[in-house]
Amino acid sequence: MVSLPFQGHINPFLKLAKRLISKGVHVTIATTENARHRLPKMPNSQSSEIHLEFFSDGLSFDFDRSDQNSLINSLYTKGSKNLSTLITNLTKAQEFSCMIVNPFVPWAIDVANEHGIPCAMLWIQASAVFSIYYRYFKNTDDDFHNLEDPNEKVQLPGLPTFKVRDLPTLMLPSSPDHFKRLLMHLYQSLDKVKWVFGTSFYEAEEEIVKSMVSLTPIYPIGPLVSPFLLGETETNGFSVDLWNAEYSCIEWLDNKPNSSVIYVSFGSLIVLSNKNIENIATALKNSNKPFLWVLNPGAENKEDDADELAFEILKETKGRGLVVKWCQQERVLMHPSVACFVSHCGWNSTLETLVAGVPVIACPEWTDQPTNAVLVSNVFKTGVNAKSEEDGAINAQELQRCIWEVMDGPNAEEIKNRAMEMKDLARKALQDGGSSDKHINQFIHDMIIHNLHP
Ligand code: UDX
Repeated sequence: MVSLPFQGHINPFLKLAKRLISKGVHVTIATTENARHRLPKMPNSQSSEIHLEFFSDGLSFDFDRSDQNSLINSLYTKGSKNLSTLITNLTKAQEFSCMIVNPFVPWAIDVANEHGIPCAMLWIQASAVFSIYYRYFKNTDDDFHNLEDPNEKVQLPGLPTFKVRDLPTLMLPSSPDHFKRLLMHLYQSLDKVKWVFGTSFYEAEEEIVKSMVSLTPIYPIGPLVSPFLLGETETNGFSVDLWNAEYSCIEWLDNKPNSSVIYVSFGSLIVLSNKNIENIATALKNSNKPFLWVLNPGAENKEDDADELAFEILKETKGRGLVVKWCQQERVLMHPSVACFVSHCGWNSTLETLVAGVPVIACPEWTDQPTNAVLVSNVFKTGVNAKSEEDGAINAQELQRCIWEVMDGPNAEEIKNRAMEMKDLARKALQDGGSSDKHINQFIHDMIIHNLHP
């Protein structure tokens, strides 16, 4: 497996690795060298049966990787060569039957081909996003008339009517060209990919999955979350956490009434602006409920003055809240005290809410998040989408209204019931004979056949 070391990218790969290992497959995950020193919980990477290997992305350790253009360029020119060298070295001792690549390293597809290794892709976002980008970058039909107008309607197969503002942002005119070039390269390389897998599950995105069958089929093999979240025994607790989780929050949740706490997190990449922090704080203050807020410094550890703001928030909310830098999110979502999740709707977080049966208040920012927010409110119907201000900022009053709607409003019960229905469907997908389990078994079977008769 080849992935970038972002938390939202490495997590689904790790979860898939564990599934495959439980079925007798051997797995090596290769990611970039700069992640090595950010992995606090990895005293012995080989002990868990998952072999971690590293290759250089071609940049120095102290390079600011939030400069995405330089990072992408260096990965193309130097990272791909370093990965190729790593594979050459590893294949002296073992043979690889398949290389499963992350979509954001499309050059790895060429590396797999050069080495004669069959290639699969794990699409780490919603199948809906795979489909939308597919139709745009492969120009399959004339679906996108005017991407300049955020209010223009877009009707796509298998999806409710979208507005341009709900589309994944990397295809919009406002997005930098390097992302468009990367995605264009990915979609042009799909004919070299033998299997495309999605991290969600068929029952969640049935119409979308069906709409891709005649184009490039996507096979959902998820929800790729930790086994305990699915009610399964955790046989391999190995995790890759880029920050140390603050365990105190579970104890703190233990002392709160059932379904009383608002959980707030914007994932691992978004660094909230001070304006957004203040608006969220105002909504939480006025909602008058206990809250647990992960205020993360972001991938490049930009601490900013978040600590100071957190102190102010806690003072103003008089002990009703807890602010941490990182938590074990899956454990938090499974906790009976958690009532709802104010989320940026990163795809991993969204899947985790489906599996945990937790209603969502969506505050999306960029990339796939606006699309996921519409899936939550209009397709899964497990939450509501908080309207942002004209400049994209979070609106405090609207957020407060959404919290009320999900926790106390007339639709609260229906939303919770729907969340519980999705939880049930999510669990069944990975049980023996479930839709995702069948896809994984088929993949292992195909991989063996393909390697016996290339
Ligand atoms: C990124 C993109 O932003 C997202 O839109 C895309 O779908 C995947 O890549 P990220 O922003 O980090 O991911 O969000 P998300 O996909 O939700 O992944 C975050 C992961 O970190 C989740 O698995 C979540 O459980 C975990 N997490 C988050 C923690 O373990 N602890 C925390 O405190 C916060």
